[in-house]
Amino acid sequence: MSINLQTLCQDVCALSKEVGVFIKNEGEKFSSMKVEVKGKNDFVSYVDKTSEKRIVEKLALLLPEAGFIAEEGTSTKKGETYNWVIDPLDGTTNFIHGIPCFAISIALMRNEELILGVIYEINFDECFYAWEGSKAYLNGKEITVTKTAKLADSLLATGFPYYDYSRMDEYIELFKYFMKHTHGLRRLGSAATDLAYVACGRFEGFYEYSLQPWDVAAGAFIVQQAGGKVTDFKGEENYIFGKEIVAGNSACFDEFLDVVKKHFN
Ligand code: IPD
Ligand code: CA
Ligand code: CA
Repeated sequence: MSINLQTLCQDVCALSKEVGVFIKNEGEKFSSMKVEVKGKNDFVSYVDKTSEKRIVEKLALLLPEAGFIAEEGTSTKKGETYNWVIDPLDGTTNFIHGIPCFAISIALMRNEELILGVIYEINFDECFYAWEGSKAYLNGKEITVTKTAKLADSLLATGFPYYDYSRMDEYIELFKYFMKHTHGLRRLGSAATDLAYVACGRFEGFYEYSLQPWDVAAGAFIVQQAGGKVTDFKGEENYIFGKEIVAGNSACFDEFLDVVKKHFN
């Protein structure tokens, strides 16, 4: 059976919005007493878990043969060909502190390839999405990365290391370089949103290490469909499972990646 990816993408957008309403409502009455600690600076609550359960249940109906790579481990089913990659709440630290930047991130892989991505940023009601062969969209309008050709004219986003401090020195030196040589850096606290903002041209680029597949899969795909480039810190393809990512517009990507490479390799 061939899959209609456009229809599937619309269904995943609708599902994300539905679960987004649940997350928003819970956020309004959320108490930090309900937070569990998974690891150093790694938090979770019933909101992440319930959201993931709802997403997994619905996706299992939409594409029964697919498996799951889902942050909270709701399903560990492995799909032979298709696998969903899910972060039910990206930006949990923001969520528990009442800071309005958190998103749902859902991607679909066919074997090793990304073929669909949806990121729903809940607070601004912004749904970013793309499917194989499509353009990238934000709430129905086509989006593209910027054409800014120089790092000196760019605004970048990153995420700070919060448990793996082994590469901190390199990270800080790179940070200093970008402080001096770009329009500045932002740390939103949601990698999925950072990537969505690269795709729609709000940022020229994004980089971070120690990320998981569910943080980056949907965003990396949407950036590419929006005309951008994505690699790991070596300039290679291992950015979904390799725990490091550089994403940016095509015009200044080479300059951006060169600087990252010089600091990290
Ligand atoms: C986190 C966010 C954050 C990034 C962290 C991620 P979570 O995801 O994407 O921006 O810096 O590395 O773990 O835990 O909120 O789903
Ligand atoms: Ca995440
Ligand atoms: Ca999460």
